[in-house]
Amino acid sequence: MTDFLQQLEEIVGKGGLLGSEQVSIRNKSYWDASPMKARALVRPKTTEQVCAVLKLCHQHKINVVTHGGLTGTVQGTLSGKADLVLSMERLNAIEEIDPQGRTATVQAGVVLQTLQENVKQHDLMFPLDLGARGSCTIGGNIATNAGGVNVIRYGMMRELVLGLEVVLADGTLISSMNRMLKNNAGYDLKQLFVGTEGTLGIVTRAIVKLKELPLSANSALVAVNEFSQVVDLLKFVDKSLGGQLTSYELMWRNYYQAVTEAGWHESPLPRNYPYYVVLEAQGADPQADKEHFQLMMEAAMEKGLIEDAVLPKSEAERDKVWAIREDFEALLSLRPQFIYDVSLPIKDMDHYIQTLEQRLSERWSQCPFYALGHIGDGNLHFFVSPQNDDSADLHHQVNQIIYEPLEQCGGSVSAEHGIGLEKKAYLSLSRNAEEIALMKSVKNLFDPFNLLNPGKIF
Ligand code: LAC
Ligand code: ZN
Repeated sequence: MTDFLQQLEEIVGKGGLLGSEQVSIRNKSYWDASPMKARALVRPKTTEQVCAVLKLCHQHKINVVTHGGLTGTVQGTLSGKADLVLSMERLNAIEEIDPQGRTATVQAGVVLQTLQENVKQHDLMFPLDLGARGSCTIGGNIATNAGGVNVIRYGMMRELVLGLEVVLADGTLISSMNRMLKNNAGYDLKQLFVGTEGTLGIVTRAIVKLKELPLSANSALVAVNEFSQVVDLLKFVDKSLGGQLTSYELMWRNYYQAVTEAGWHESPLPRNYPYYVVLEAQGADPQADKEHFQLMMEAAMEKGLIEDAVLPKSEAERDKVWAIREDFEALLSLRPQFIYDVSLPIKDMDHYIQTLEQRLSERWSQCPFYALGHIGDGNLHFFVSPQNDDSADLHHQVNQIIYEPLEQCGGSVSAEHGIGLEKKAYLSLSRNAEEIALMKSVKNLFDPFNLLNPGKIF
């Protein structure tokens, strides 16, 4: 064992350090089952241990890649064989739930669903929600400014973080554990660490905002024939529900059909509509909310905004509808599998998708292309799998087709998953030269030796 590894083990104890062979038993990420690479992996149990680890890495000039739940799609957590992986898996306690102040104090490795379930016992809700809830961590949600399915009502992670504790590249602890909704005493430093993908500091603890637990949830699976109905229906339901609309998720036909093929999810509606929407409203009066929701759906039907719809009548039926949207396991066996996460104005979406379909099919005779998205947030996801082409630059070719039209409509190559390694060649399509130069200056100020998640973003 090298001096460096021995010193690490002194900090985190025997069970806290895994050597490169033990690391290789792990997968690179949820999406990539090939073996993880690293010099070693440390699993600190306290913030003090994280500080000591970073101080040591700073002395030895060792790169550090922080790991949460590894569910991101942009290779933001990819590590090389010389890197040290810092896993937050043992820093995973919910330290406090404050029902009066409506905050939770958590360690970075807490799994999102664990937090959701714990606060529910106090009649409260943590409103961030996404398909990967069972594995993603609060620290990862902060590092990527996670979005998900409730953003139209509650915002992204940035809006839900009140305070942070962060360790800088040289081991300095920045405790900014604010619990006030309002605090304009100088710079809001915590925001520098939200969405910066572990490149400026390592988040160890956070204070997050909670909401009162909604008492009613009403959802629907809706089918429509025209994209204009998707847009008009969004405006109509949002207005009718007076602030209760929580989710508005769109699936294009090709996606819907693929995930409801025999053996996957049951389809409660005919499978040949061009668009399907899952929408949900949360409120405080179960009986009145249900009646209002049903009346609203009838009115939308009369106005010609809906072709067909089902309203789940139980929690189990609701879960089945949501599984069609969130569980896309059916698509994942296709290879290659390129996953996208872009944003653009809703008015440009229909044309954009048609352009992509046309360009992809011109370029590849077989190219499965599945589209869905958090349409209320302008955020689309695609799964693209060009067949029978082993060109070395295949991924880049698909990227060009997907990203090129975004620049003109002011869209972004990354709506919610960040840049990581995968999108760094395309950052300049969504950010100008001055913005990127300022980002690099900030990085240089915080991490002059480029030790934290080096090579990611730019
Ligand atoms: C989702 C992930 C891919 O929305 O962001 O399902
Ligand atoms: Zn998403």
